[in-house]
Amino acid sequence: MTSTHLSDPSRTHPGTPGTPAASARGLTKSYGRGDAEVHALRGIDVDIPAGRFTAIMGASGSGKSTLMHCLAGLDQPTAGSITIAGTQLESLDDDRLTRFRRDHVGFVFQAFNLLPMLTAGQNILLPFELAGRKVDREVRARYDEVVATLGLADRLGHRPSELSGGQQQRVAIARALVAQPAIVFADEPTGNLDSDSSAEVLGFLRRSVRELGQTVVMVTHELDAAAYADDVLVIADGEIRAHLVDPEPAALVAALRPGTSIAAGGATR
Ligand SMILES: Nc1ncnc2c1ncn2[C@@H]1O[C@H](COP(=O)(O)OP(=O)(O)OP(=O)(O)O)[C@@H](O)[C@H]1O
Ligand SMILES: [Mg+2]
Repeated sequence: MTSTHLSDPSRTHPGTPGTPAASARGLTKSYGRGDAEVHALRGIDVDIPAGRFTAIMGASGSGKSTLMHCLAGLDQPTAGSITIAGTQLESLDDDRLTRFRRDHVGFVFQAFNLLPMLTAGQNILLPFELAGRKVDREVRARYDEVVATLGLADRLGHRPSELSGGQQQRVAIARALVAQPAIVFADEPTGNLDSDSSAEVLGFLRRSVRELGQTVVMVTHELDAAAYADDVLVIADGEIRAHLVDPEPAALVAALRPGTSIAAGGATR
């Protein structure tokens, strides 16, 4: 893997913690057997920095969703190790993994996956209901903070059908954030949105990193979307091709061009 550091020091975030929010070592995922075997991930080593917004980019079929699903503990790798918030996922049995995901990982999907009969506010608190957890004063304070950051205060009593696509996705993001997960994974979160709503949702995702200290990892096809991220992981044919830190647009375009080798531009991770 080639790492490129292109940051202007003034753009790095004060107090960015050094411990990664998630890491993978030797991560391999194969599907099928024999002639039909597909190597979706070919031994990936990666650290997802905490308190930053990371985009995963690459061509269709390059392994982006597989990487994200393995990192999130939704899919089991063929080999390798994944650590989230200091816990090695392969050490957990199914029940403990389910509980770990519930308590430490947030998800945002392309289809917003809100429950239509519940209001926005009820949807945001649904994970607490499902887990049988009390919405105490601390949770309520976090809820208020998340709702304010995502600009949803005047929409909480509305059902999803009464909200725009962008507002629905903001509710889904709020739902992912309210439990203060160690990391939030978003697979093509703007895939169902028009360009104005996409920009709005991406701006709010970035705010959740800047203002709430959240760690967000987003899979996207779109350069415009990746431009909101701090870091970009470029994946090609199941391998990480580059890990760009605060990339300039030209560096990102170059890294995404097929067959181009990437010149390391400075400090490496
Ligand atoms: N369940 C599966 N069974 C067999 N092959 C699979 C399965 N899931 C994914 N693959 C293969 O693994 C490779 C990586 O797939 P993945 O879904 O991770 O790609 P992606 O980068 O997310 O693509 P896209 O941008 O189209 O969503 C592809 O070759 C795909 O066909
Ligand atoms: Mg995908």
